[in-house]
Amino acid sequence: MKIIRSVNEMMEFSTLQRERGMAIGFVPTMGSLHEGHLSLVEESIKHNPVTVVSIFVNPTQFNDPKDFERYPRNEEEDLKRLAKYGVDVVFIPYVEEIYPDKEEQPKRYKLGKVAEVMEGIYRPGHFQGVAIIVDKLFRIVNPVRAYFGEKDFQQIAVIKNMASSEGLDVDIIPCPIKRGEDGLALSSRNELLSPELREKAPEIYSTLKYSVEYSNKHSVRATHDTVVERLDSVPGMKVEYFEIVDARTLLPVEEWEESDWIIGCITVFCGEIRLIDNITYRHP
Ligand code: PAF
Repeated sequence: MKIIRSVNEMMEFSTLQRERGMAIGFVPTMGSLHEGHLSLVEESIKHNPVTVVSIFVNPTQFNDPKDFERYPRNEEEDLKRLAKYGVDVVFIPYVEEIYPDKEEQPKRYKLGKVAEVMEGIYRPGHFQGVAIIVDKLFRIVNPVRAYFGEKDFQQIAVIKNMASSEGLDVDIIPCPIKRGEDGLALSSRNELLSPELREKAPEIYSTLKYSVEYSNKHSVRATHDTVVERLDSVPGMKVEYFEIVDARTLLPVEEWEESDWIIGCITVFCGEIRLIDNITYRHP
């Protein structure tokens, strides 16, 4: 497994692969890898002759500086885990090479309406930051396919729009959410939870699962309210938003009959740690 830190070296590697007709599968990450990331790596290895994983905690996508500072970083451990998987290259760029000019006005991306709801409202600037880094990484790594976890369902829609508006020819492959045995969606942020809140956090998924059953006999509004009430009643937990939306437009639905593909997207503060998850109510 090669570790590349320089942008030029990474570009030379990807140009060579293209010339040899070797498709690159790409898994962009912010490190602190868990089984969710590794399932993306596995998918990439299965479907591409070459797999590149990037590790970069991207400052421009954090709207809260405290969140950026405390974001877990475990490079040594990450490299050990990736080496076992048969990854070809781990790209760990220097921040100075990715953002050489601190004064430069960041580019504004056309991300469409899907970027203006939910995370777009609660984390202003977040998706522009994600678009900047994913665009840069796509241009450097030049992948044929890129793999993203469906825990960040909205992020996938935004990245698809970014790639299409920038004319980048990359297949964006969504991969299912990975959960712990207790149902909690795997996230690098889980390790920041206090032991007490780590024990309570699986309530998020058990409530969402319960709400799917509940939705068979109740309205969208009642389903929404029951999820929020149940989770808000757990000491230390507070729902930031829960939206039941059309999975294509990400706009709220009022009736179950409105769409054949409906999901519920939630973010919950567990103490100071913000966790995100989603559940499917209707699927085509
Ligand atoms: O989902 C993430 O980990 C990040 O948003 C990504 C896509 C690696 C961009 O920094």
